[in-house]
Amino acid sequence: MRISVVGCGYLGAVHAAAMAELGHEVVGVDVDERKVDGLSRRRPPFYEPGFDELLSRSLESGRLRFSTDVGEAAGAQVHFVCVGTPQRRGEYAADMRYVDAAAESLLEILEPGQLVVGKSTVPVGTAARLGEMVTGKVPGALLAWNPEFLREGFAVQDTLHPDRLVYGLPAGADGETARALLDEVYAPIVERGTPQVVTDYATAEMVKTAANSFLATKISFINAMAELCEATGADVKLLADAIGYDDRIGRKFLNAGLGFGGGCLPKDIRAFMARAGELGADQALTFLKEVDNINMRRRIRMVELAREVLDGSLLGKRVAVLGAAFKPDSDDIRDSPALNVAAQLQLQGAVVCVTDPAALDNARREWPHLDFCPTAEEAAERADAVLVLTEWKQYRELDPVTFGRVVRQKRVLDGRNALDREAWTAAGWTYRALGRRAG
Ligand code: UDX
Repeated sequence: MRISVVGCGYLGAVHAAAMAELGHEVVGVDVDERKVDGLSRRRPPFYEPGFDELLSRSLESGRLRFSTDVGEAAGAQVHFVCVGTPQRRGEYAADMRYVDAAAESLLEILEPGQLVVGKSTVPVGTAARLGEMVTGKVPGALLAWNPEFLREGFAVQDTLHPDRLVYGLPAGADGETARALLDEVYAPIVERGTPQVVTDYATAEMVKTAANSFLATKISFINAMAELCEATGADVKLLADAIGYDDRIGRKFLNAGLGFGGGCLPKDIRAFMARAGELGADQALTFLKEVDNINMRRRIRMVELAREVLDGSLLGKRVAVLGAAFKPDSDDIRDSPALNVAAQLQLQGAVVCVTDPAALDNARREWPHLDFCPTAEEAAERADAVLVLTEWKQYRELDPVTFGRVVRQKRVLDGRNALDREAWTAAGWTYRALGRRAG
């Protein structure tokens, strides 16, 4: 099939390359010339495991190209909208200007029988509004909503092997036509027996925001338990293991620590609350405010813990921060808890050096007042404390004995409960973590 993908960020670029991998002829369109140029030259504008290879394969196959001109999307049977919906400045609501601009630009080239498919995370009601725009301007054209659940760091795997396909469709025969087109796009995934949920627009839009709200709630739940563990001397990691054995609860997303960040969970729960308010249903989501509060308190607690470990004062203390990305296997620093903590420590007088295996360029650009070092060893040189704030494999696997030779004081703060406490304490380190007793 001929497919266009409008918006080539984490979601769109991976989606475009994955669609080419499935055998379609794909054009990825983005207004950012540098992004289009980089992607066309096999130089992705972001770090994502497995994506370089997928991109190279798809470009070499001749089935994938990128362009800044939406005119290149003309003639495609299916047009995916994959642009961002960031938080509006000074508000909780999502900024819809990119989605609206993408839809309007597609209207210029859309033809009857073609399908526009929204994948961006949007406030419920958006698909109905865009659907009317599409059919109003191009009778016979259709719109579907098909949310994406990819996790950064696993984006290629999640796109090619999703755990479910959700189709939000218009009613009646149009819905059947749209469904048939989507099934054709995802044929290998459908044939594999991937569960499908076929529904209306509003449900499909809400599936995404509800899923992200649930995940955020699960993380804040265990982090609230961590606060109680700190007050009682209990151990949140063992608590999570123990409740996680109950398969109604499950152990996934129960890792207590510095909490969630990134370009999705924080802004999605806020946009969901804002939308609920507009719909007169804000009471239903007031708990998400608390989820957000618990999450933010973890960052403050981490700074307090560092102060405690550093004998009550951060002034002039050398602190190594391992991790800048909001999570491992990503170079994304949007709302990164690690950088938030690093900046607070520096503002309160500590001499901070931040390192990260993939996110340093992004971090330098967005946080120019922070100091950065290329390696963990350099960041930790003569450090009074080491904070592990993003659980990259290379930090989890640090040898506490050799690493101990670099620092001035063997004090480690495990912001992600990711280190082997016994090994670090055996090597003479003072070990502290959120929600666990001092080791
Ligand atoms: C999330 C959703 O998982 C994905 O389905 C959706 O499409 C986009 O948003 P992503 O933002 O890539 O994906 O990251 P995710 O793996 O969900 O982690 C989000 C944050 O939660 C990270 O900062 C991570 O460190 C934190 N987290 C995750 C925890 O603090 N504890 C956990 O147990 C799990």
